[in-house]
Amino acid sequence: MRIYAALLLFASLASALWPVPADYAHGNTTLWISRDVQVSYSGAVCRPMSPNNRYPFLHEQEFDSFQNSTNSTLGGGHSSSCYSSIVKNAVQRTLDIICEEGFVPWKLHPRNSDFEPSTAGPKKQISSIVVRQTSPDPACSPRPLANKVDESYELDITAAGQVTLTAPSYRGLLHALNTLTQLFYQHSQREAGVYTNLAPVTIKDKPKFAWRGLNMDVARNWYPVADILRTIDALSWNKFNHLHIHMTDAQSWPLQIPALPELADKGAYAKGLSYSPSDVKQIQEYGNDRGVEVVIEVDMPGHQSIVGVSHPELITAFNVQPNWDTYAAEPPSGQLKLNSPAVTSFLHTLFDDLLPRLSPYSAYFHTGGDEVNMNAYALDEGVNSNDSKVIQPFLQKFIDQNHEQVRAKGLTPIVWEEMLLQWNLTLGKDVIVQTWQSDEAVKDSVKQGYQTLVGNYNFWYLDCGKGQWLNFKEGDSFKNFYPFADYCSPTKNWRLIYSYDPIAGLTPDEAKLVLGGEVHMWSEQTDPVNFDDMVWPRASAAGEVLWSGRQDASGQNRSQIDASPRLAEMRERMVLRGIKCGPSQMVFCTQNDPTWCAL
Ligand SMILES: *[C@@H]1O[C@H](CO)[C@@H](O)[C@H](O)[C@H]1NC(C)=O
Ligand SMILES: *[C@@H]1O[C@H](CO)[C@@H](O)[C@H](O)[C@H]1NC(C)=O
Ligand SMILES: *[C@@H]1O[C@H](CO)[C@@H](O)[C@H](O)[C@H]1NC(C)=O
Ligand SMILES: *[C@@H]1O[C@H](CO)[C@@H](O)[C@H](O)[C@H]1NC(C)=O
Ligand SMILES: *[C@@H]1O[C@H](CO)[C@@H](O)[C@H](O)[C@H]1NC(C)=O
Ligand SMILES: *[C@@H]1O[C@H](CO)[C@@H](O)[C@H](O)[C@H]1NC(C)=O
Repeated sequence: MRIYAALLLFASLASALWPVPADYAHGNTTLWISRDVQVSYSGAVCRPMSPNNRYPFLHEQEFDSFQNSTNSTLGGGHSSSCYSSIVKNAVQRTLDIICEEGFVPWKLHPRNSDFEPSTAGPKKQISSIVVRQTSPDPACSPRPLANKVDESYELDITAAGQVTLTAPSYRGLLHALNTLTQLFYQHSQREAGVYTNLAPVTIKDKPKFAWRGLNMDVARNWYPVADILRTIDALSWNKFNHLHIHMTDAQSWPLQIPALPELADKGAYAKGLSYSPSDVKQIQEYGNDRGVEVVIEVDMPGHQSIVGVSHPELITAFNVQPNWDTYAAEPPSGQLKLNSPAVTSFLHTLFDDLLPRLSPYSAYFHTGGDEVNMNAYALDEGVNSNDSKVIQPFLQKFIDQNHEQVRAKGLTPIVWEEMLLQWNLTLGKDVIVQTWQSDEAVKDSVKQGYQTLVGNYNFWYLDCGKGQWLNFKEGDSFKNFYPFADYCSPTKNWRLIYSYDPIAGLTPDEAKLVLGGEVHMWSEQTDPVNFDDMVWPRASAAGEVLWSGRQDASGQNRSQIDASPRLAEMRERMVLRGIKCGPSQMVFCTQNDPTWCAL
């Protein structure tokens, strides 16, 4: 980060952007902003605020003329203004946040210090915001492949008060607008208004990795749609671009499938605790409007016990008790049978119903494939063996059929690493392999030529460290298990998450196949009550690694001392925007030189 003005003590505390841009320079001039700022979109200047227009905003025909002038190929099932309305709505949200967030940054300056601009005398105003897209988007489809979108942007604020946001794609403009919100503060004398004290600003920014995601498990515990939408907002503020929903698991099936209504009728935790087709559509559209592609996973053939509640004929080793752990990693046991025509026909019906509803909004469908238990297939009449050599060809046939159907619906399959690395299945070269167990898995996957997602559970699993959730059987035997370490203890705090390098140990050619990664929120001990605090701001740390890279431009690992006040500021903004996440430090540390709270 370059700073035009001499670096003042604590100046860095109030220039916090998260994730840090590739190139960022700022000054110390104060500019005020108000609701009657003019906003234009590629030259279409808006009028001052009118009563029925909360913001002095673009008229529809100005968007039309923008589209006509760019000769874009918009079309294909959506109204011709699909992108412009996404940008338009994002500008509205941005102005809402800037004008209403109310972020007085007292926690980020020493107590009794004079950190705010003077309100005496004339106040220089931001005169206009120009939002300019420099190339037409390829098509009016919100589902390009992850590495085919140019998400870069430029943001300029002149000392005279002219703001310009430029990007080649609408997704870049969404990032620019998110960055803009982080440059403004509310004055503690409310009526004094909202200001930035960082002008002039120049930012040139682009992501390091094309896939920046959160995996949200909605099957171990249930989440209302509102929690998912709020999470999409927070993801977009942190410049994530994927929400992976782990939609079903052994314990519940919260997804309504109209062709198979019994799945959710019998498999949801309770009546009403399931997502209808219109809920799923709403979630996907909401994500698309914010640059976050929602990818659905139906994990198979393991983690499928719940299907046995409505279709016992499809499941082997269904809820074996008490020795469930012979047949599954978690209770209840149960896997889809292999070599079963009934399973084939069930999956045809499922995919025919579900996938055409997902494909307008996502390029991907996740078919799972983790933790397939071999002993369960000794109880499967079509397999009758727990020998991996016997099981493997049946699994190959299973995944071939599934992926053929996924592709036929225009989607690209994603699998967990075991399908490739443990079972040695032959996968299409289009398949994305999601690793989770180790860095060696990343290396092994890219060496075989697969686009790979990282998310090593020793670094990026957000569920770890709460202690074992299983009961201990006999009397006082729990005492022997103290301190009740879970499978991935201890807790991964933001510093550990921040230290993880997705491409560590890879050659430059191998690193090119790392598409990005995901942090994971498995929900055995998390539900809407503690979700925000479990995910944020720790996921933000992974967000910065994925957007900005583990190393800075000079190749040095990014410093936690630099990150810490910026993360604290991001957390304050997220709280004001409705995310109930705890602080990463006490106020004494955020108010003072970060080195005062260092060892
Ligand atoms: C702003 O930066 C200029 C140029 O470095 C410096 O002279 C001035 O004192 C700074 N103003 C404030 C209010 O810090
Ligand atoms: C844009 O093009 C469409 C179709 O050619 C036309 O109907 C519309 O009037 C044009 N809009 C403007 C503002 O030129
Ligand atoms: C629009 O783009 C197409 C293909 O890029 C080109 O052939 C055509 O001449 C362009 N039309 C205008 C009016 O610019
Ligand atoms: C397969 O089953 C046999 C007999 O029950 C058991 O001894 C063996 O450990 C099992 N193999 C695996 C891989 O679980
Ligand atoms: C897959 O390959 C690995 C490494 O060669 C081997 O250890 C494993 O047994 C193989 N798995 C199967 C199911 O063949
Ligand atoms: C940079 O971080 C990596 C882990 O991401 C670590 O292995 C390496 O030692 C660090 N380098 C330095 C110079 O600290």
